[in-house]
Amino acid sequence: MLSGLRNRNLSARLLQPADELWDRRLGISTFGHHPGSGGPGEREWYMHYIPSPYRDIFDVLEIAGLRSDDVFTDLGCGLGRVVFAASHRGARRAEGVELIPALARQAQDNRARTRLEGKDIAFIQGNVIDHDISATTLCYMFHSFGHQIVAEVLDKARHDRRTAGARRPLRIAYVNPVCDEVIRDSGWFRRVGQLPPRTQWLSSADHYRTTIWQSTDCSPRGG
Ligand SMILES: C[S@@+](CC[C@H](N)C(=O)[O-])C[C@H]1O[C@@H](n2cnc3c(N)ncnc32)[C@H](O)[C@@H]1O
Repeated sequence: MLSGLRNRNLSARLLQPADELWDRRLGISTFGHHPGSGGPGEREWYMHYIPSPYRDIFDVLEIAGLRSDDVFTDLGCGLGRVVFAASHRGARRAEGVELIPALARQAQDNRARTRLEGKDIAFIQGNVIDHDISATTLCYMFHSFGHQIVAEVLDKARHDRRTAGARRPLRIAYVNPVCDEVIRDSGWFRRVGQLPPRTQWLSSADHYRTTIWQSTDCSPRGG
């Protein structure tokens, strides 16, 4: 199985050369695959790990308006590619939450060796439903989990933000937005943008539509 994983990474590296180059530039290793569990309709529907292509990440960060005072959180971060990309693009703090201990450990290894020295980058191993995102201003989700978990994350975020007196809206960039209606029906987000899937030359990676949401629980100019 291990050699299977190694081979898969090698072929992905060859077939996604732009992503390989970005990994090298940032001094990290984010190619990999880890199986998911559960399925549609189940509460514990946890998706497999595959990384977002760098170009898609940069496009999403741009349309989501990433700023130098943003606290960025990737919910289901895998090996941390999106977290490092957000830090590289200037996020004040970039953090990732990952359920699978082996992936979270490798994300920590990446943090120890990245060229982004001195940046505020953190990885937390655990379930997103236990993570406090009251300080987060921009959240990223690449269809990491199912409807029930999305709903629980939003409920907890609303509660934690009220308790903490959050003064800036929370934006969510949702790649492959399978559970988009959960955000819409939560009643405290409005959709402020979207990106169509864009194919990339010399890349075997899959590309997905992305929606951008912003919370309505505080003034956009607050904080
Ligand atoms: C499709 S991958 C996305 C990885 C990364 N965000 C990216 O775009 O490159 C989804 C990741 O979410 C993780 N995940 C799934 N359910 C989770 C949960 N409840 N809490 C934390 N991580 C979770 C999976 O283990 C997997 O690594």
